Amino acid sequence: MMLTQKETTLLQDLKKEEETCIEKYNQYSQQASAPQLKNLFSQLAQKEQQHLNTVNQMLSGTAPTMSASQGGQSQTQSQNTSQQVNMSSQNYDMKNDSYLCTDALSTEKHVSSTYNTSIFEFKNKDMRNALNHIQKEEQEHGEQIFNYMSQNNMYS
Ligand SMILES: [Fe+2]
Ligand SMILES: [Fe+2]
Repeated sequence: MMLTQKETTLLQDLKKEEETCIEKYNQYSQQASAPQLKNLFSQLAQKEQQHLNTVNQMLSGTAPTMSASQGGQSQTQSQNTSQQVNMSSQNYDMKNDSYLCTDALSTEKHVSSTYNTSIFEFKNKDMRNALNHIQKEEQEHGEQIFNYMSQNNMYS
């Protein structure tokens, strides 16, 4: 399908946001001290890669249909954050880990908001649904980070 100039511009912005998220989570996965947080960040990097793939698909004019397998992503995500906190966490650099989480949470809020604003400009229903699907996942990323911070007494 043909995209309007506005739709194309919005998708290009979203593409940049997702690329930044991938880079950020890969870097944060290396910088994080606690193994559970490293794991969370590297999982999120993979999710952002899936978002980038979907946005690229949309940029090429194809409206993705949200399959059951894509919808099921969030189930595997939540298993990891519900793990109990390791009591040896005092050995980790909690201050820097807390900083990384705060920044990541702020990024998710921003990206989720960008998707929300973009959705209003799209004509095609499937395009809207795809953006809405991604936005929901961004909120879930925020939830996973929030939960990690709560479990580790980082959120005050
Ligand atoms: Fe994303
Ligand atoms: Fe995200």
